Amino acid sequence: MTPSIFLSGGAGGIGLATARLFASRGWRVGVGDLPDRAAALDEAGVEAFALDVRDPEGWEAVLDRFCAPDDGALDVLVNNAGLLDWGWFEEGDAAAYVRTIDVNVTGVVLGAMAGAARLGKRRGCLVNIGSAASFSATPRLAVYSASKFAVRGLSEALSLEWARMGVRVACVEPFVIDTPMLDNADAAGGRFRAALGPMAPLSAGDVAAAVLRAVEGSDLHYPVGEMPERHVQEALPRLAEQRERWLASLGLAGSGPGEPPAGR
Ligand SMILES: NC(=O)c1ccc[n+]([C@@H]2O[C@H](COP(=O)([O-])OP(=O)(O)OC[C@H]3O[C@@H](n4cnc5c(N)ncnc54)[C@H](O)[C@@H]3O)[C@@H](O)[C@H]2O)c1
Repeated sequence: MTPSIFLSGGAGGIGLATARLFASRGWRVGVGDLPDRAAALDEAGVEAFALDVRDPEGWEAVLDRFCAPDDGALDVLVNNAGLLDWGWFEEGDAAAYVRTIDVNVTGVVLGAMAGAARLGKRRGCLVNIGSAASFSATPRLAVYSASKFAVRGLSEALSLEWARMGVRVACVEPFVIDTPMLDNADAAGGRFRAALGPMAPLSAGDVAAAVLRAVEGSDLHYPVGEMPERHVQEALPRLAEQRERWLASLGLAGSGPGEPPAGR
């Protein structure tokens, strides 16, 4: 059976690198992105769908179509679409902040909701793309940091709740990657690249490889880069202890990750 993966915001950057990696490994790959971006995507082995992650009905319609060949089942859903606003918080644009929260938080919640039953059919895996900012908030990225803390919170809670369905949940937390997202921050009057100084030598391909490790592994956190790696290592014993306590309280003590579906 050919395993299937669907990624939001997969028409460029980290999402496209991930789509390409899974396509090269024989997976059936679908990406959802804003209509103009989806229409422009011409990538062998990748099905493109117009999707605004803020639209719950859009999620249902797109996953209905993508999952139809597998009787409505899905192996992996990657909540990847995201936006970033750069600048001093009080000088920012309220509408832009609301949009960022809608895409980065509401979009992830809606993706998880649309994915739940479909992933349950395969004892699949939800991968949310957090950030180094999920652990350590970044000045001039206040709303983005808040949104990525939320992604981490949702991931940690669902990794416990969905143990009863055998669905694994992972959160990938990259440090800065040079993608078009940084162009947007620069174009909006920000000076993101200038403020960062020399770019960390990480690529979208490094994040794609972390998503693959997340899908094949059994951990909750998959940091990419030294800084988030240190955060996770420091927090790991506490997280593991808390996790066992929560699972025991839910009557799920000893729950391991869901069995990977056949063929994965
Ligand atoms: N680039 C980085 O430094 C970095 C670091 C850590 C985490 N991340 C996260 O990685 C993810 C991907 O970011 P990227 O760097 O590849 O950025 P990107 O801008 O290259 O890609 C983001 C994609 O999301 C899509 N998108 C935006 N709004 C959407 C919407 N409403 N509905 C559907 N799609 C929408 C865009 O069209 C784009 O294709 C984001 O969640 C981002 O926060 C990026």
